[in-house]
Amino acid sequence: MLTVKSADLKKTKIDTLAVPVCEDKNIYDDAGIKAVIKKAFSLKEFKGKKDETVTLYDLPEIKVRRLIFWGLGKLEKIDREALRTMAGKTVKSCIQKEPATLWFAVPEAKINGLETSAVLKAMQEGAYLGNHLFDKYKGDKKKKALKKINFRVATRAAKKLRPISDEVAAICEGTTLAREWINIPSNDKTPEKLTRAIVSHAKKQGLKVRVLNEMQLKQKQFGALLAVAAGSQTKPSLVILEHRVAGAKKTIALVGKGVTFDSGGLNIKTGNSLAAMKSDMSGAAAVAATLISAAKINPKFNLIGAIPIVENMPSGKATRPGDIIRSYAGKTIEIGNTDAEGRLILIDAISYVVKTYKPQFLIDVATLTGACVVALGEKIAGVFSNDEDLAGAIIAAGEKTYERCWQMPLPEDYKELLKSEFADLSNIGSTRWGGAIAAALFISEFTADTPWAHIDIAGPAYSSKESAYCGAGGTGFGVRLLAELLDRLAS
Ligand code: BES
Ligand code: MN
Ligand code: ZN
Repeated sequence: MLTVKSADLKKTKIDTLAVPVCEDKNIYDDAGIKAVIKKAFSLKEFKGKKDETVTLYDLPEIKVRRLIFWGLGKLEKIDREALRTMAGKTVKSCIQKEPATLWFAVPEAKINGLETSAVLKAMQEGAYLGNHLFDKYKGDKKKKALKKINFRVATRAAKKLRPISDEVAAICEGTTLAREWINIPSNDKTPEKLTRAIVSHAKKQGLKVRVLNEMQLKQKQFGALLAVAAGSQTKPSLVILEHRVAGAKKTIALVGKGVTFDSGGLNIKTGNSLAAMKSDMSGAAAVAATLISAAKINPKFNLIGAIPIVENMPSGKATRPGDIIRSYAGKTIEIGNTDAEGRLILIDAISYVVKTYKPQFLIDVATLTGACVVALGEKIAGVFSNDEDLAGAIIAAGEKTYERCWQMPLPEDYKELLKSEFADLSNIGSTRWGGAIAAALFISEFTADTPWAHIDIAGPAYSSKESAYCGAGGTGFGVRLLAELLDRLAS
């Protein structure tokens, strides 16, 4: 879908060309593009201000039928995210007009410190992600995603820039795959179905796949995971994806919360809070999609994805508040609230991963707490870690991909809150305050001394409104972030 081309605009016939324009600096070398920009600027209604746009038709200077100028604002304010936003919005506006192929002009100049490769990459990310539609359940598929998006670069730069398209597509395809899984309604993604979907995609990418089914989970005593699954008619699983490299020195493990629907269990949720809970497997989606994307890039370390998949439902078989269960690691847990289910499935998966793979880094991703959304809002994830370097790497990766993360504390003395009268631990804190921290501290009891980070994506995983390069629904938050992070941890 994404292609880099070094077309001569005076000779190549193009239906639609989008030209991002900087308000206060020329960022192009190409004479044709410079000439048409001059024309756009001669109009009173176009100054190149951020998000300002004007479309001109059939200009004599170049053979382009429809020229979309898109303002980027002042040079010093332009960053990767501004470029993604511009490209995403442009693609969305063209999906309505449905040209056969959309072209983007890629500025030849460095933009605010960004090399052309970084500029191109950001534009391609926004374009690819903005082109994703989720219309699986619509009879009338009115909108059609663009088939081809070309990026026009200078001839001398084409060879070096060409490979970027495949890298961007590999990762962004992971993001859209995660979005699809999140958007699928829970009646169509029971744990069995989601397990099968992940397994089939993973196998296609050549990942080694193991699935622990309900019987095996019982044999191996995954008591916490099974306690969450108990109320559901559908069977849980633990999916393990492996990218193994002979002689690799490093193993990185990712764990993703896969609750295909979180009703709360017997502590049933109420009102609006129920409807969005089909997205409670967003961590699982991010981890599975990251492994599937990573497999295409073939990193030089061992990468393990562990994905516990369950449905949290009330029923005569459901786990009750007050029940005491035994986790895989052997610690007993008193269920203070059946709606604090995510941490229960995570700790069993984490204990298993730590014991089986002894990873150098362990990162879990989960839509874990409403409290984290209260703290950081809907667009920023909370990061909790026992390793400052790891936390720093996650936050830096998030700045680059604009999947924003903010570090939260893990205060030792708050562990007090998780004490239970009768068991080793309670699954909820004894006060209603600091719920995101209590959840993270609960998990930290099961990570042994592995360098570990927990990313609470309850806010940014799902959005009821569309944005520049994402539709309403699952955002796929975490896939680009983890891919970027793996890059950093690899060296
Ligand atoms: N899946 C929810 C967290 C959540 C809330 C995700 C809002 C996305 C948006 C989680 O399982 C949950 O129910 N957490 C409880 C914990 C409480 C019972 C200690 C919460 O946050 O209320
Ligand atoms: Mn819950
Ligand atoms: Zn949940």
